Formats: sequence, C-alpha cells, structure tokens
Amino acid sequence: MQFKSLVIALAAAVSMSAAWAQAPIVIKFSHVVATDTPKGQAAERFKMMAEKATGGRVKVEVYPNSQLYKDKEEMEALQLGAVQMLAPSLAKFGPLGAKEFEVFDLPYIFPSKQALYNVTEGPIGKGMLQRLESKGIIGLAFWDNGFKVMSANKPMHAPEDFKGLKMRIQSSKVLESQMRALGANPQVLAFSEVYQALQTGVVDGTENPPSNMYTQKMHEVQKHVTMSNHGYLGYAVIVNKKFWDGLPADIRKQLEKAMADATTFEKAIAQRDNDLAMEAIKKTGKTTVYNLTPAEQTAWRTALAPVQKEMEGRIGKDLIGAITKQAK
Ligand code: LMR
Repeated sequence: MQFKSLVIALAAAVSMSAAWAQAPIVIKFSHVVATDTPKGQAAERFKMMAEKATGGRVKVEVYPNSQLYKDKEEMEALQLGAVQMLAPSLAKFGPLGAKEFEVFDLPYIFPSKQALYNVTEGPIGKGMLQRLESKGIIGLAFWDNGFKVMSANKPMHAPEDFKGLKMRIQSSKVLESQMRALGANPQVLAFSEVYQALQTGVVDGTENPPSNMYTQKMHEVQKHVTMSNHGYLGYAVIVNKKFWDGLPADIRKQLEKAMADATTFEKAIAQRDNDLAMEAIKKTGKTTVYNLTPAEQTAWRTALAPVQKEMEGRIGKDLIGAITKQAK
C-alpha cells in the first residue's frame, strides 16, 4: 500500500513537471495608449510575431490604455516583475533615475526624422539603452511617435498666448522647463487622466502627437491645435532584466527577431498614422488647426531656446552636444 501511494505520488510529480515544461512563458506587455496608435499596433505586431516564431512557447498578453497600470505604476510593476514588458515614452524615464532620456524632450533638438534615427539607431541610442541595465532593465528598441502639437481652448500663435495656461505634461523636467519658458504652468498628470482633466478644466491644454490626441478624444475638449512640431515623442521598449536573462537562449533569440520586426513595422506606420489622425481631427470640425507662420516659428524657437542651457546640468552637456552633432 505504501509502495502504491509512492508510485502514485511519483506519477503525479512527473505529469506535473511535464505540464510545467509545456506551460507557455507569459510576457505581460503593459502600455498606456489605445491599440489603434503606432505603439499599440506595434505591441500587437510583436505579440503575433513572437507567438508565431516560438510556436506558442511564448504567450504575449498586451494590456493597452492603462488597463493594468498608469504611467508611474507600470515602471514600478516592471521592476518588481509584475509585468515583463513596457514601452514608456522617453519623457518618463526620469523617475527611474535615467534622466538623460529627457534629452529627447528638448525643444527642436531634432531638425528631422532622419536626424532622430541617426541618434536612436546609432551608438548614442545603443549606449543609452545599455545604461538601463544598472536599473534591472534591458532596453530592446526605440519606437517612434513623431512630433508633438499643442492644444488648448484658445488659439496659440505666439509664445505669449501660453501665459498663465495650465498645461498637462509628462513627468519630464525638460517639459516642465519648456512650459515655463512659454509662461505656462506645467502640471504632471498620468496619460489616462488627461482627457478628464481637460474636460473638467483641471488643466487648460496639453501637447501630444495627433494619434494620441485623436484616440483619446482630446479634440472633443480642445478647441484649438497648433501644428508646432516643437518637440519629439518616442518610446523605449523595455523588459525586466532578470526575466529576460532567465529565458532559454533560443527563445530570447526569437523574441529579439520579433522585436526587430515590430520595430521596423512601427517606424513605417508612425508618420502615416499621425497624418491620418490629424485629418480625422480636422474632419470632426470641433477643433481649429493652426499652422504657424515662419515669423511665429522663429518667435517660438527664440522663446524655447533657453531650455537647453537650463537643462544641461540635468541631462549632460556632452550628451546634448553629441546629439546635436549627430542630428545635423
Ligand atoms: C503621454 O503620456 O502624453 C504619452 O506619452 C503617452 C504615450 O505613451 O504615448
């Protein structure tokens, strides 16, 4: 009898370990924007490619729209291992202690998309991602979301038009300095709270690429948009280092390939998505869209020029210099 129960226990243990061996590796990928945005679509693309390439050994669960966590919490969740993958905007790495990522927020630092790619796809970008390892994070890729527009309930043609406006920003000191340089009062809010804050007047305006504005319906509560393209919004796709290092080598390789595919895909759709979103905003007729004249553009550049100097101490003069040089 004793022998029989030992056999049963052994058999149960064997079948349990077989089940373990077959259980898929789950990657929880949390993000804060809608699925129908460049980031949202690229996350879905990664899921598809990763699950296909690993023959189902990896399951990617994508949680869009802050369903699981808001901006600040998702960073904590990643470090604790409650989720495995995120793609926060580069403006949100300050609280992690990676202040240099805020260099991407500097007004007008990238004269073109190509100038940006020179940085994100070159040694500077690689070095920045590598430095995340000391925080228990691996940086896998940069994703793109283009240049930002300004929105509010009043026209914004000259820098003076921002005087006294409460402007929602992401948690970046550079963005804080940028809004102050325009005479506005910056307020940090999680992305998921922006629509309501605009609707109830907690803040007067904000900045984002059109795809984020449109998919969050911000245009319904913002009467004016200025096509300022004054700053950049991009992402770093990051994973928990312990999780990533613990993956079987062949799986990691497949996931790297899936990420490379998703990154190419993301880069290809980002601009078009934003152009379409802007067209859709115009079509609603709820928001007046304004293009700055060359003289107004100069006035914006002049007003925002001091931000770079002011932020040198935080970001590093050398990094700013290296990026400016690369960006030419
Ligand atoms: C924001 O918080 O304004 C955006 O950066 C959200 C995002 O991830 O695109």
